[in-house]
Amino acid sequence: MRCFGQLTPYEFTKIVCHMHILVLGGGGREHAIVKALKLSPKLKHISCAPGNPGIAQEATCYLTDPTDVRKVLDLAQRIKPDLTVIGPEGPLAAGTADVLRRYDFLVFGPSREAAQIEKSKVFSKKFMEKHGIPTAPAKVCGSAEEVMQATAEFSKPWVLKADGLASGKGVSICKDEVELKSAIIEFFEKKTFGAAAQKVLVEKYIEGNELSVMALVSGGKYELLPVSQDYKRLLDGGKGPNTGGMGAYAPVKNGSKVLKKIEEKIIIPTVEGLKKDGLEYRGVLYFGIMMEGSEPYLLEYNVRFGDPEAQVLMPLLDGQWADVLSAVAAGKLPKLKWKRQAAVCVVIAAPGYPEHPKKGIRIQIDRKLCSSSSSNYILHASTASHRGYFTNGGRVLNAVGIDKSLKTARKKAYDIIKGVEMLESHYRKDIALVKGE
Ligand code: GLY
Repeated sequence: MRCFGQLTPYEFTKIVCHMHILVLGGGGREHAIVKALKLSPKLKHISCAPGNPGIAQEATCYLTDPTDVRKVLDLAQRIKPDLTVIGPEGPLAAGTADVLRRYDFLVFGPSREAAQIEKSKVFSKKFMEKHGIPTAPAKVCGSAEEVMQATAEFSKPWVLKADGLASGKGVSICKDEVELKSAIIEFFEKKTFGAAAQKVLVEKYIEGNELSVMALVSGGKYELLPVSQDYKRLLDGGKGPNTGGMGAYAPVKNGSKVLKKIEEKIIIPTVEGLKKDGLEYRGVLYFGIMMEGSEPYLLEYNVRFGDPEAQVLMPLLDGQWADVLSAVAAGKLPKLKWKRQAAVCVVIAAPGYPEHPKKGIRIQIDRKLCSSSSSNYILHASTASHRGYFTNGGRVLNAVGIDKSLKTARKKAYDIIKGVEMLESHYRKDIALVKGE
């Protein structure tokens, strides 16, 4: 079997000169990735599975379920991509990267074994503890009774996390016994999260400022991306329920100052831990960090670009993502350079999001106001098309603005929203509203 980590420089150059890239996934993150990859002069063709109506304007889309490993392999054998970029966690946890590699495809994304650090909260907590990475103390519970016992050991509020993948919804922060009881009912009686909540972590709540830190990891080394800020709560001022993320911006002011400590305490031990534990990693690793004062704690790992963080990181690279992702997939790690610019992404959500997002609501996008420029544009995240666009999930569209100044990038993102009509849609008004900007 040939191994892409051992390609000769000639073979590697040949692959990256007339590239056909396949992106797996179909959200706003994947639209941002497709858009960024398309800027490469070496790109010959771009495909996406399953994609979405926005991506379909830029790539050939295939209605293949990216978590169905057999079908993805069939597709890859048919269209023969030179590089496959796996966007979401589902296909990674299903082992898509492993199977494609077994058949000699070049893949950006970690192995199924390594993807456990996102797939299982219990696995990742044990990994953090084993490698001395600062994180909140936690207990693993398998029943309502065990949760009640565990909460006696921590003060309020309590954090309950489903062990498995729950589309970003398996975390409950319970401020009192009433909320704790209803979370227990969701996890153990209604079984809202199914098998993902067979085990539940009860964790000490850490209060502070949350940051999204990402690094490309390959060959036992890492390269950092600019620090970004996600807005997880539904409403302005950090109020309302948790969501998958209502917006993001990058770079975070003074982010590089806190990075040193985060690197020492969290990133270096993680990358070394992966190596020690024999977990093959060629992809991006996301560290959900909570800064308690000046001390960083690791809340979670994700084995993918954040969404909507990818939407603000993709435009900031001073270089070609196609080259960078190919190199990482081949076990190399190029030095990254970043533009002196800021990017802002505002998520436009469907009515009812996050609990019961309404599907099928017509979306009108004013072409004049939203005509794509390189400094502000609309990305599709969860839309359907049938003689026009309709909502097809919770986080529907992303408005992105880019500029030298964060303030102007923010204005560009909000300006473009004026060209979007979607009945009862909603978005936060305080994304990237930073003091002193
Ligand atoms: N925005 C957080 C995440 O992608 O998990």
